[in-house]
Amino acid sequence: MKKIGILTGGADCPGLNSVIRAVVRKGMLEGYVVAGIKNGWEGLIENDMKILDPRMTSGILDKGGTILGTSRIDPLEDPNKVAAIGENYKRSGIDALIAVGGEKTLTIAQYLHENGYIKVVGVPKSIDNALSGTEYAFGFDTAVNIATECIDRLHTTAESHHRIIVIEVMGQHTGWIALESGIAGGADVILIPEIESDLDAVCLDLNARHRRGKTFSIVVVAEGARIKGFSPQEIAKRISHYRFGGIGEFVAEEIEKKTGYETRVSVLGHIQRGGAPTAYDRIIGTQFGIKAVDLVKEQRFGQMVSLKNNKLGSVDIEKAIKKRKTIDMDLFEIASVFFAH
Ligand code: F6P
Repeated sequence: MKKIGILTGGADCPGLNSVIRAVVRKGMLEGYVVAGIKNGWEGLIENDMKILDPRMTSGILDKGGTILGTSRIDPLEDPNKVAAIGENYKRSGIDALIAVGGEKTLTIAQYLHENGYIKVVGVPKSIDNALSGTEYAFGFDTAVNIATECIDRLHTTAESHHRIIVIEVMGQHTGWIALESGIAGGADVILIPEIESDLDAVCLDLNARHRRGKTFSIVVVAEGARIKGFSPQEIAKRISHYRFGGIGEFVAEEIEKKTGYETRVSVLGHIQRGGAPTAYDRIIGTQFGIKAVDLVKEQRFGQMVSLKNNKLGSVDIEKAIKKRKTIDMDLFEIASVFFAH
């Protein structure tokens, strides 16, 4: 009997369990044994895996996170780890690996595939939605819905207290979550990495809005937003560490200083990644899992499952990781119609 291995790597996100469940069901229907590898690449380095069956993967559709666990380990930093992966892959009799992950996990998968260590099929996940080669990576819809609900809640308190509230959302180098939750939540300002924002101009708009009688405002800022006049290093110094997360505080301080309005900040953080997936993410996760097994069956290794024009397909992993998918500028134009009104 042939064996498929499956691992989930990098940041977790809602919808991962739908993929695992689908791979197990479809894999078994196609006559494969499915081994669940624990904690991403770490499980292959440590040979930590177990055979999955439908009983172990039932009742997990609505659960956030991943039943396999995950880690951010990068085996490419250590040749011994790469060698261990190759050995354990062979020793455990895996014929093909399904790697579910974002840019980093798929970059590792591509390297190991290219260099003959493993045969791999990729499945794209990312709350950031920044992977090229696919219109959608599951997890994003859930994150946008959570962020939107938070914006709604923050709206009511901002309005009661006549405050500006700055809401920091995730997204790393792209502004997808900020843009979509900002539109859905009626943000007055959206700050993203793709467009450098001028806080002086933003504050003039906020002042004008307040003069027109709206005594509160909602500013959504992506964690990687670019601000005119401040280098990322400078911003990092002000927020005392250099990693994603924290820019909201900086923006809130600047806005309060420049407008004089009482300003608060709310950092949504990992809330955006936790909990039950939306129906959409469960459906896409299920479809991606089924398609991944099809690709294994067809021996189309080095491919990543993708969605194009809302249809399932596949692309070279190499292509998907080459370039980051930045926001849709037309959508930003639409969002800007509503800024500071
Ligand atoms: O890439 C997904 C993501 O959630 C980013 O939006 C965020 O910057 C990062 O992961 C946070 O990662 P960690 O869980 O390691 O703090």
